[in-house]
Amino acid sequence: MAYRNLEIANRGAVRTITVNRPDKLNALNRDTLNELTIAFAQAAQDDAVRAVVLTGAGEKAFVAGADIAEMNGYTPMQAQGFSRAGQRLMTSIERLGKPVVARIPGFALGGGMELAMACHLRVASEKAKFGQPEINLGLIPGFGGTQRLLRLAGRSAALELCLTGAPIGAQRAYELGLVNRVVASEALDETVNVLADQLAAAAPLAAAGILDAVLQGGEASLDQGLEFETQGFALMFSTQDMREGTGAFLEKRKAAFKGD
Ligand code: COA
Repeated sequence: MAYRNLEIANRGAVRTITVNRPDKLNALNRDTLNELTIAFAQAAQDDAVRAVVLTGAGEKAFVAGADIAEMNGYTPMQAQGFSRAGQRLMTSIERLGKPVVARIPGFALGGGMELAMACHLRVASEKAKFGQPEINLGLIPGFGGTQRLLRLAGRSAALELCLTGAPIGAQRAYELGLVNRVVASEALDETVNVLADQLAAAAPLAAAGILDAVLQGGEASLDQGLEFETQGFALMFSTQDMREGTGAFLEKRKAAFKGD
């Protein structure tokens, strides 16, 4: 499918999805949300894709938020539809069943921060800036920001970022547990590629099981989470990948996982 606002590239088993509106700092308008939803559904269905990198075009921004020009004219019902579409997209990324890495070269604000938080891992340039500036527009986050920020960084950080609307730098985001790695901008691609290759080479069914257990566990009691884990663990014993992984260890060779 031809996209107007995205670029899609494959490198081995890694698919990179790039939001491509650099003149608007990759802001998410309705069309871009729709295209991202389709692009992630395609990545989910394609067995050749084992890991996804999500990024924004240019060096200045990952995504600078929902498109303010478009939102300015929304009725409450249109706003409700926009929020729901954004939330559905974020949830579909989170539940993709394959690891998704956000590559963050610059601004990840508002909807951009929400998009980054829906990814499983985040790698940021030291120049990146994060924030939920919606309050400065007389708004509140609408793509899951209040909820995912709360879960990722706790109530204190969620309230500080959402109530002040002030951006924070990559290092502070790292200290809050919002990003996994902060690197010099020249090292961003190499770091993301190495990480994505590592994720793509891992046993895919095990990766899906880990994503499922961690994500479901985050919403459950410890007992329920432990039960998800036990069920996922037992299910792995039905896979060829588990025989391959344990067999390769015993035979002192590198495992080749096929996802079966
Ligand atoms: N929605 C729509 N357009 C946006 C946008 C957004 N969220 N963020 C940036 N843009 C557009 C600007 O309007 C500008 O377009 P123009 O050249 O047609 O005027 C272009 O992207 C470049 O942005 P600009 O503001 O000139 O760059 P800057 O370097 O001076 O500032 C930011 C960068 C990120 C600080 C600033 O663009 C900003 O505050 N953006 C909005 C962030 C925000 O509130 N996001 C949450 C939305 S809910």
